[in-house]
Amino acid sequence: MNNRLFIFDTTLRDGEQVPGCQLNTVEKIEVAKALELLGVDILEAGFPISSPGDFQSVIELSKAVKKPVICALTRSVEKDIDVAADALRYAKRKRIHTGIGTSDVHIKYKFNSNREEIIERAVNAVKYAKKYVEDVEFYAEDAGRTDNEYLARVIEAVIKAGATVVNIPDTTGYCLPDEYGAKIRFLKENVKRIDKAIISTHCHNDLGMATANSVSGIINGARQVEVTINGIGERAGNTSLEEVVMTMKSRKHLNIETGINTHNIIRTSRLVSSLMNMPVQPNKSIVGRNAFAHSSGIHQDGVLKNRENYEIIDPLEVGIDESSIALTARSGRAALKHRLSLLGYELKQEALDAVYLKFLEMADRKKDIRDDDLELLVGSTNGERKKLKLEHLQVLCGSSTHPVATVSINYEGETLTKTSDGIGPIDASFNAIKSLVHYKFKLEEYLVQAITRGSDDPGKVHVQIENKGRYYYGFAANTDIVTASVEALIDALNRIV
Ligand code: KIV
Ligand code: ZN
Repeated sequence: MNNRLFIFDTTLRDGEQVPGCQLNTVEKIEVAKALELLGVDILEAGFPISSPGDFQSVIELSKAVKKPVICALTRSVEKDIDVAADALRYAKRKRIHTGIGTSDVHIKYKFNSNREEIIERAVNAVKYAKKYVEDVEFYAEDAGRTDNEYLARVIEAVIKAGATVVNIPDTTGYCLPDEYGAKIRFLKENVKRIDKAIISTHCHNDLGMATANSVSGIINGARQVEVTINGIGERAGNTSLEEVVMTMKSRKHLNIETGINTHNIIRTSRLVSSLMNMPVQPNKSIVGRNAFAHSSGIHQDGVLKNRENYEIIDPLEVGIDESSIALTARSGRAALKHRLSLLGYELKQEALDAVYLKFLEMADRKKDIRDDDLELLVGSTNGERKKLKLEHLQVLCGSSTHPVATVSINYEGETLTKTSDGIGPIDASFNAIKSLVHYKFKLEEYLVQAITRGSDDPGKVHVQIENKGRYYYGFAANTDIVTASVEALIDALNRIV
C-alpha cells in the first residue's frame, strides 16, 4: 500500500467555527501562508455559502497560496456548490468538499428522509460538483455512528459518481480507536473500486480520542487525515495536526510519510494561538509549553545523561531552538526581528518599532526575556490602533479595604472616567468599564495565567464576553494583573466596536 499520507488542514474552516475565534481575511491569509510553509497538502479555506466573509476569504486564500490544493466546503445542495466553485475561481489546484449526514439519527431528524433518498442526494451532489472540478471529496457526516453496511453502499455510490476522496467523519467524536479502524478496514474490503478514491479520516475529540482514532484509521488504510493546528475546533476540537504528524515521524514501523516540514510546527502553532486568542494548554502534546520541560530531578538528571532517556522527540525537530541567543536590554532591533520571525511573527517596521520599545522596557525589569514574553509584547502592541484605549487605572484594594477602581478610557479622542466598587479589584474595574460603555455585554470567561517563573513575570489574561448572542475574545499581558485584566476586557470590547 502507498505510504504517503496527505495532510488536509481544516484550521480555517472547522477550526475557525469555534465561537470567538473568527479571523478576518488578512489574518486568514497569514495563517494560510504559514500552513503552506508547513507543507500541508490540502487547505480547507472555508464554507463559502455560509457568509459573504467566508466567500471572500476563499477567494483571497486562493490568490495568496499556490502550493496546497484549496478546498471549499458545501452541503449536498446545488446552490452551495455553485457558490463554492465561484469562490475557488482563482485557485491553481482546487477541490470541492461536499456531503450529507448518513447516520440514522441525521437521516431521520436532520433530513426527515430515508436511506435511499440520501444516497441519491449524495450521488447528485458529487455529479454536480464534478461539472466544476475534477477533484471532489465526499463526506458522510456522522459516519462514526453510521451502520457500516449502509456506509459502504453510500461510499460505493459516490465513488461511482466520481468522488476522488471519501471522508469518513466521526463528527460527534463517538468512536473508539478499534471501532473506527475497523470501519475504515470494512470500507477497504467491501467497497467496489475503493482503490479509485483516497479514504480520509476526520475525527473530533469529544472523548479525547481524535488522534488515536485518526491513527487507527491510517493503520487500516486511510491515506488522508483531516486535522487542525493545536487541535482547535468546535466543542472539544478536531484531531491535531502536530500529534498525527509527529506520531508518524517517531513511530517508524508504521512506514507512513507526510510532506510536513516539522521544524515549522511550533511557529505555526503559536501564530494560530495568538491570532485566534486561543491559549494552548501547557501540557498539550508537542506544542504545549511543558511538552519538553522536565521538572522532576530524576527526569532532569536522566535527560542530561542522555536525552533519549525521557524524550521520544528531539525538540529541535518541531522547531524549538533552545540554543537561540538570549535577548537582553542590549539586543538590537535585528536580533529582536530575527527571534520574532522564528516565532512566526513577520512585523512591518512600525509594528516592530512599537514592540522594540516595549521590549526595552521589559528588558530593564527582567534579565531573561523568553519567547513567551515576546509573544505577550507582540499581543500587547496589537491594541495600539484600537478605538477604545485604557488611559488611566487606579485601584484601591487590600486585606481590610473595600475595593474601588477608577478607570479612564479614551474613546476616539474623548476621555471617559468612572469610579466603581466591587468584590475585588478586577470586579471593581470591570464594573467601572461596564458603566462607561454604552453597549451591554456579559463576561463569559476570565482566565489569568502566570507565564514563566518569577514574581516579575507578566500575567496573561484572556476574557470572553457575549454581546447580542455573539462571543468576543480579548487578550492582554502585563506585570500588573489588574491592568492586564482591564486591557483584555478593552481588547474584547474593541472587537465589538
Ligand atoms: O465533522 C464533520 O462531520 C465535518 C464535515 C462537514 C466534514 O466537519
Ligand atoms: Zn468536523
